[in-house]
Amino acid sequence: MCGIVGYAGRRQAAPILLEGLKKLEYRGYDSAGVAVLDNGTLHVMKRAGSVEGLAPAKSFAGNVGIGHTRWATHGAPTEENAHPHIFGRIALVHNGIIENMKQLKEECLERGETFISETDSEVIAHLLDFCYEGDILAALKKTAARLSGSLALAVISLEEPQRIALARRASPLVVGRAEDGVYLASDIPAIAAKGMKVYALGENEFALLDGKEAHFYAEDGREIEKKPLDYAVEEDVPEKKGFRHFMRKEMSEIPLSIANTQQILRSYPKISALREVLCHAEYIHIVACGTAYHSGLCAKVAFETRARIPVEVAVASEYRYRDPVIQRNTLVIAVSQSGETADTLAAAELAKRSGATLLAVTNVRYSSLARLSDLVLFTAAGREIAVAATKSFNAQLTLLFALAEELAMAKGRGGCGAELFSLPELAQRALASSEEVRAWTPHFLSAKSVFFLGRGADYCVALEGSLKLKEISYLPSEGYPAGELKHGTLALIEKGTPVVAILTSSRLAEKTMNAVHETYARGAKVFLVTSLPEYRKREEILSSVLIPDIGEIYSPVLSVIPLQALAYYVSVARGNDPDKPRNLAKSVTVE
Ligand code: AGP
Repeated sequence: MCGIVGYAGRRQAAPILLEGLKKLEYRGYDSAGVAVLDNGTLHVMKRAGSVEGLAPAKSFAGNVGIGHTRWATHGAPTEENAHPHIFGRIALVHNGIIENMKQLKEECLERGETFISETDSEVIAHLLDFCYEGDILAALKKTAARLSGSLALAVISLEEPQRIALARRASPLVVGRAEDGVYLASDIPAIAAKGMKVYALGENEFALLDGKEAHFYAEDGREIEKKPLDYAVEEDVPEKKGFRHFMRKEMSEIPLSIANTQQILRSYPKISALREVLCHAEYIHIVACGTAYHSGLCAKVAFETRARIPVEVAVASEYRYRDPVIQRNTLVIAVSQSGETADTLAAAELAKRSGATLLAVTNVRYSSLARLSDLVLFTAAGREIAVAATKSFNAQLTLLFALAEELAMAKGRGGCGAELFSLPELAQRALASSEEVRAWTPHFLSAKSVFFLGRGADYCVALEGSLKLKEISYLPSEGYPAGELKHGTLALIEKGTPVVAILTSSRLAEKTMNAVHETYARGAKVFLVTSLPEYRKREEILSSVLIPDIGEIYSPVLSVIPLQALAYYVSVARGNDPDKPRNLAKSVTVE
């Protein structure tokens, strides 16, 4: 998945492209490139690595251009594989995956054409040039009909110096119309400015930008009128504000992100529609990926315990191909920070097609998921730049736990007594004590593997702690149900293996401690995150962090904080960039 940007208008295109690409780096940062059209001459620059490497391209002359920041799918992150891809009269940038690339490439090879990259996207440039008869939009329509897979495409031709043609299928693409010209991008914040009208391309739609106007076309070729999106320009460009990394800064914003999310919920304009849906819900499916999936797992514990309603939590990439049983009165909750994750969107679409009510939990107001869903609950975490999700996870939990309480009420089960309103302050305290995990770092630096153990809600948090550590420290790690360890995985415990136990349930604490003891007896170094002070002194524990007690079900919103901090400190101590871990991107818009 990648970010694409483009401009046709009165201004110089290059600075606009570079600025837009910088804002799109959350979609990929392993190579980048721009192509600017200047009266029939094409200026091109591509670089392996981040957008910064393109700085010299800022001086390119020309009013029409396209740009790309890449997350490698086909082919290594090299300069050759960077976009734009150019063949004959065509230059293009592509986000998505072309599934029939092999067969199409063979066709081109038979015509004697040669390829310079290993990407699936280059084949599109060949096909376009083959179909091109002086009309870029017509060539794009013909070409798109031959492509299987997902695509957001921006295409220029050397023979049409004012035009950019666009196509969209299963990858987001927006167009902005401003007084000085027409913009395009993978998402709104990359281009949005005051006074700009922004339009989202729909599935299988095309567009033609001519420097002044944007024309939109349905799949069958009809020109269509589009309504501009209702969006607000983001005034605040996130900065590190004195922190060394965005991840650490975003962790410091956890209390605010919880408080703001609670505030959004209090003033939710569709509360009666939501209550109506909750009242009738007999089954709940939660679909999500990665960290959002883990918040779904935590929510399952809360929904089932508090409202006694059966909840299935599914990894979206599995759900979408599984033919899930969606009964009448099933509420499907799609959880996604970005609202653009391809698998989550596909799972949500499937649920909707099958007649379920679709509720989105997302951090991005104008996201594809928000537009697709029947009801949307926004987490108010604010923009999250670091690839590793932190404050957005705490905000998702805040929202889902509040939903569990609404659901319990709708099912006539009364309040839980937990002081959810004091969560921001408790999170502040958890943040402060999390600094202690810094001292744990040396024990993790060269660990062969790390284990996170818990039961119930603590197990869900163990999974998130492990994911965080893996993605930014590159250490092999597993989150495991404490009681399951003895059924095989215990074999991996050696002298010195770091084990992190999460203990927030007095009901389950002794049971978890059994497993902890089994690892300790085999030489593990055991670290503890707990809200139960009496366990800190146990002989098995090398070091511990005490977090405030909010009760077993809702503890994840606090117990995850020391684990996020641990991942951060280990990552930095290992010399990694926690904001931009290798091989990953913030938003995964391909399947
Ligand atoms: C979290 O640290 C990850 N980077 C990743 O697992 C992420 O949560 C996942 O890709 C889902 O993203 P979404 O919430 O934007 O859908």
